[in-house]
Order: sequence, then C-alpha cells, then structure tokens
Amino acid sequence: MRPHLSSREWHDHYLRNAASLLPIPWEAGAQLTAEEERAIVASLRAWQLGETSDGRHLVAAAERYATAIADPDFLAAVRLFIREEQRHGEMLGRFLDMHGGGRILRNWGDSVFRWMRYCLPNMEIWTTVVIAVETLALVYYRAILLATENPLLQAICRQILRDEVHHLRFQYERLALICAGRGTCAWWLTLQLQRVLFFGTTLAVWVDHHRALSAGGYSFSQFWHAAWKRMEFHWRCMRQDTASNMTAQNPRDHQPSRRFDDQNRVDQVPTVAPPVRA
Ligand SMILES: [Fe+2]
Ligand SMILES: [Fe+2]
Repeated sequence: MRPHLSSREWHDHYLRNAASLLPIPWEAGAQLTAEEERAIVASLRAWQLGETSDGRHLVAAAERYATAIADPDFLAAVRLFIREEQRHGEMLGRFLDMHGGGRILRNWGDSVFRWMRYCLPNMEIWTTVVIAVETLALVYYRAILLATENPLLQAICRQILRDEVHHLRFQYERLALICAGRGTCAWWLTLQLQRVLFFGTTLAVWVDHHRALSAGGYSFSQFWHAAWKRMEFHWRCMRQDTASNMTAQNPRDHQPSRRFDDQNRVDQVPTVAPPVRA
C-alpha cells in the first residue's frame, strides 16, 4: 500500500502544485457563442461566488482541530487549500470580467452552504460539506468543459478539475481520520446523515445549474448517476481508511485508501498524477 501523506506532505503538495499550474491562454479571450452564453454564464457566476471565500471560519475550525491533535502542519495545509480555492475563484472571476457582465455577490445555494458551515463550525462538518460540494464540482466542471469550445474556459476547467481531485483526497482522508474511533452503528448513522446531505446538495445543484449541466451533455438521470457514483466511491475510500485508522495510535499514522489513484478512471475526469512525497 502506498504510504499516506502527512499534513506536512499535503502542505508541500499544495506548494508544488501552485508552482506547476497548467498554462492558461488568457490571450484567447472570453468570447462565447450565444448558445453557450445562455447555458453557462449565469451558472458560472454562481459557481465563481462559491469558489470565493476568505476562509476565516475554516481557518478558525482548522486551528482548533490542529491544536487538539497537536498537528500544526494541518493548519498550514488548510491555508494552502484555501489559497487554491481562491485561485479558482480568481480565474473564473477574471474570465467573467473579460466576458462582460461581471460577477455576482449573492446566490441562494452559496448562502445555504455558507450558513451550514458557519453554524456548525467543526472540522467534521466542514469536511463533510466540502466533500459533497467538491464531488459535485468534478461533475460540474467536466460538464462546462464539454459545454464550451472556448479554449480559455476549457483550460480553466482542466486546472480546476486537476486541483479538485486532490482536494477530495485531502478532505476524505481527514474525515476518515476524524471518524476512525466510531463503531459500526455510529459509522452507519454518520453515513446516513452524509447521504441526506448529499441528496439535498445534488438536487440543489441540478435545480440551480441544470442548463449548464445539460449543455455539457448531462440529463438529470445521467447527472444523478454520475454524482452518486463518485460519492459512493469516496465513501468506500473513507470506509477503508476508517477501518485502517481504528488501529492507529496517532492521527499521523493513518493509512489512506489504495483505491484513490483509480479515481481518475472512474468517470473520465482528466488524468492527473497523484500527490507524491517530497
Ligand atoms: Fe475549487
Ligand atoms: Fe476544491
């Protein structure tokens, strides 16, 4: 089994990733066809808002958690994770500015998820919500990639997809660690609550973004199937991690799922190398 990445190694991964970004052809411009405009611009604005946050509440939750488990590197890794999300927001924002019409400051879906995270400020809630949203982000950005022929927007989507695959592993490894001490019943209950959250989140994303998803080739049933297939995969990885973590003495000793590296082949997400040890 490939050794797991410690918080320090995740920190180093984020640094290396920031130094090896894909080329983004800003010179290609942000022109869209009328059909693309109708299908995806409003949706992109909402998603851009979701990618934009100063991360204050997450930093506060991560700080408490890192102190409790005596792992300051975790906080450093979370700060770099937030920076990557902000980079996604900046890229999408710059694209929308170039396209014209600008950005939005409010969206109902974004408000709901911010409220959930802010009202329940612990790492388990944060990671659970982030895993649900990022799982759907993999489907969403793939849809946008297929919905447009604009090379700039396609390059932005590829970079985001490349980053998000690692975000998911970073988050679900952590959630597996947090849940490691739970018995079968407690784990079952945790999973049911996560299913309820994911059900609602998936439905909300379809309601708000069905035009863009449809333009990318997803009918409702295809979107639903793709989303749950991904999420079931992450749950299986988490369960596997949780089982191995139950025997770990130290949070840093946990073992990740060996199946993570197969994730890129699950649903034709653009291939990306896994994080590696320094
Ligand atoms: Fe993102
Ligand atoms: Fe992300």
